[in-house]
Amino acid sequence: MKPRILQSARLMPALEARLRSEFEAHPLWNEPDPAAFLEARGGEFEILVTNATAGASASMMDALPALKAICSLGVGCDAIDLQAARERGVVVANTPDVLTDCVADIAMGLLIDVARGLSAADRHVRRGKWLEGPFPLTTRVTGKRLGILGLGRIGQAVARRARGFEMQLRYHSRRPVASSNLVYEPSLVQLAQWADFLVVACSGGAATQGLVSEAVLRALGPQGFLVNVARGSVVDEAALVRALQQGTIAGAGLDVYADEPNVPPALIALENAVLLPHMASGTRETRQAMADLVFENVQSFVEHGRLKTPVPA
Ligand code: 8YV
Repeated sequence: MKPRILQSARLMPALEARLRSEFEAHPLWNEPDPAAFLEARGGEFEILVTNATAGASASMMDALPALKAICSLGVGCDAIDLQAARERGVVVANTPDVLTDCVADIAMGLLIDVARGLSAADRHVRRGKWLEGPFPLTTRVTGKRLGILGLGRIGQAVARRARGFEMQLRYHSRRPVASSNLVYEPSLVQLAQWADFLVVACSGGAATQGLVSEAVLRALGPQGFLVNVARGSVVDEAALVRALQQGTIAGAGLDVYADEPNVPPALIALENAVLLPHMASGTRETRQAMADLVFENVQSFVEHGRLKTPVPA
């Protein structure tokens, strides 16, 4: 008898079809009253398939008393209550590694765009402004100082790319990364003070909430640029808007926001911000690899009771 699977968030159509045909996964969003459905039938499901945005709350786990495993599409686990999962003996899988390169590519893309004004220059041409005068001078990237917040897989991939731009590198994280020979900066304010560019690549969640504070932005300074490919929660968004409006920092390249998909109108109004719609992992190749890994995690749990890429408990 196959374990029953509940799918609580929309995934790629091909993955949804595969989960339905091979495991009879039940799509929760088709239910007219999901709460009533969970009340009546929540006890049937042993595996929950979700994504990094929807995650899995403690109350969702409570509604699934037979739950044994959660398989999530995405690397971030900030929307999954990992402690609640631990307490209930539920194992969790995410999709690490396969998205690292694409996210790091977008970090570098945002960095170059905000420094050199690619999106702004594109608007300049399209709006016919070139006919009125040249685009203003921008900021050099090659050889500049890059501070990385969070030296996990994505932070390290950003560092590898930045070496190609001959950038000087330092990082801040909870503790030094033993395998890295980059300079560790124990104070994020000091890192921001030193850096021309600060790239946020750490995990989201309570431990990093608001880490990029008003003080960090002040330290980054009027020539400094912020890039965030991690989670909106890591940055004090109100302070960031003020810093961009007042020129406390030079610019920001953002893929993530505090309340997605709602981007504050004040941010949208700013010319010195490059705004992407949380798309860093969104290439066909990477999303396919993420979908495959979700499927393999489900399959491995069904067949062997083990996840392929478990989140450390
Ligand atoms: C996901 C992400 O694609 O992996 C993550 O943590 O934020 C993105 O790559 C997206 O959240 C899908 O749910």
